[in-house]
Amino acid sequence: MRSETARVTFLPGGEAASVPVGVTVLEAARIAGVEIYATCGGKGTCGKCIVRIEEGAPGPTRPAVRPVRIPPGWHLACLVEVAGPLTVRPRYIVRAHG
Ligand code: FES
Repeated sequence: MRSETARVTFLPGGEAASVPVGVTVLEAARIAGVEIYATCGGKGTCGKCIVRIEEGAPGPTRPAVRPVRIPPGWHLACLVEVAGPLTVRPRYIVRAHG
């Protein structure tokens, strides 16, 4: 079985990691050493983890129990999956140590 990885880079600091395809952007951030503000812990209900995808095509978005409204052009990091190389700009970063 082949396990694919994709490089995900986080702005503005440029922290990056190769992560398994199919993880969420929030999980990719943790792997890269970037802590995105995620009040609900990844349930898709707080809307704090929003990110802009600056390069690359995002993967599928997982369903939320109680979907939160987010501005157009933004994605919930805890629900959108990595399908290929991405450059991502989170709106709120707690801490980055890449
Ligand atoms: S962590 Fe709350 S919506 Fe993503």
